[in-house]
Amino acid sequence: MPHDTVDLRSDTVTRPTAAMHDAMRSAPLGDDVLGDEPTVLALQEKLATMLAKEAALFVPSGTMANLLACRCHCEPGDEIIIHEGGHIINYETSAFAAIAGCSARSIPSADGRFEPDDIAKHIRARNCHFARSRMLVVENTSNTGGGTVWPLDQAHRVCETAREHGLARHLDGARLWNAYIATGTSPADYAQPFDTVSTCFSKGLGAPVGSALAGPKDLIERAHRYRKMLGGAMRQSGLLAAAAIHALDHHLDRLAKDHANARTLAKAIAETPGLTIDLDRVETNIVYFNVESGDAPALQAKLEQHAVRILALGPTTMRAVTHLDADQTGIARAIKALRTCAAA
Ligand SMILES: Cc1ncc(COP(=O)(O)O)c(C=O)c1O
Repeated sequence: MPHDTVDLRSDTVTRPTAAMHDAMRSAPLGDDVLGDEPTVLALQEKLATMLAKEAALFVPSGTMANLLACRCHCEPGDEIIIHEGGHIINYETSAFAAIAGCSARSIPSADGRFEPDDIAKHIRARNCHFARSRMLVVENTSNTGGGTVWPLDQAHRVCETAREHGLARHLDGARLWNAYIATGTSPADYAQPFDTVSTCFSKGLGAPVGSALAGPKDLIERAHRYRKMLGGAMRQSGLLAAAAIHALDHHLDRLAKDHANARTLAKAIAETPGLTIDLDRVETNIVYFNVESGDAPALQAKLEQHAVRILALGPTTMRAVTHLDADQTGIARAIKALRTCAAA
């Protein structure tokens, strides 16, 4: 791939900026397994404050943060309730089942959002024959929903129903930062109806590695033990935490640019013969669209010849994600390549 490739496969592909490298280089370091990693401790405190939770734990990935939430809220044999496209049940190698011992009931919907009635339908009666319904998961923004944002009142309503039925509430907030910038609703307000929140620094925020789980102090203490058990305890991880702190301090507001770029790309796709898109679903930095020819992998391959990378996620579906390393010029190049390749 040429060095000027426009890579829109995911917002995880970003490289640390020079300023982020500087922040990593100058971070005070310790040993997090021995409990004296000052930069990790600072990040955890900063995040807990931002989400208005008692404590937070730095972990290598969103997958581990979600797994820790499943493990801490559920016993083996318990069931989680989650959208059918939820990351936890589709893209995390079934860790929720293999390691936390949970089963799942999934709620169908086109955009990743659902209503209290949808949850109520999936909660099992308390009966010795059934799995125990134990945890509700909401993903905000919803990845497979198309980067859609949950309205705050809808999140409150589903959480209230879950609470009434004795379910724990977990927010997969891998892209919570995008929801915040798209709406102005603070991360703490989004986090409020949930017991735990997982979030990522390695997506739109542009850090190379790192996620976190935030929640009540006693639960986070247990998650700390499970993180160790999973091999997720790291030593001078302040290097990575420094990148995350830098991202929170400098890369939050700029997510608005990613959203504007996604909108520009989506509108151009709507006007490109051979491609179709639901513009209403483009709320943040994710752009799903369809290829009328029915051969999305072929379009992906053609785009690669033009140094543009967009993922085919099925026979007709493609996904482009905007981010820190794709500026307006890159988006213009992607649009030009799409017009050329979709017509060919
Ligand atoms: C909604 C959502 N949750 C969790 C994850 C997992 O994050 P990681 O790749 O850091 O394990 C992702 C990754 O893309 C995601 O989109």
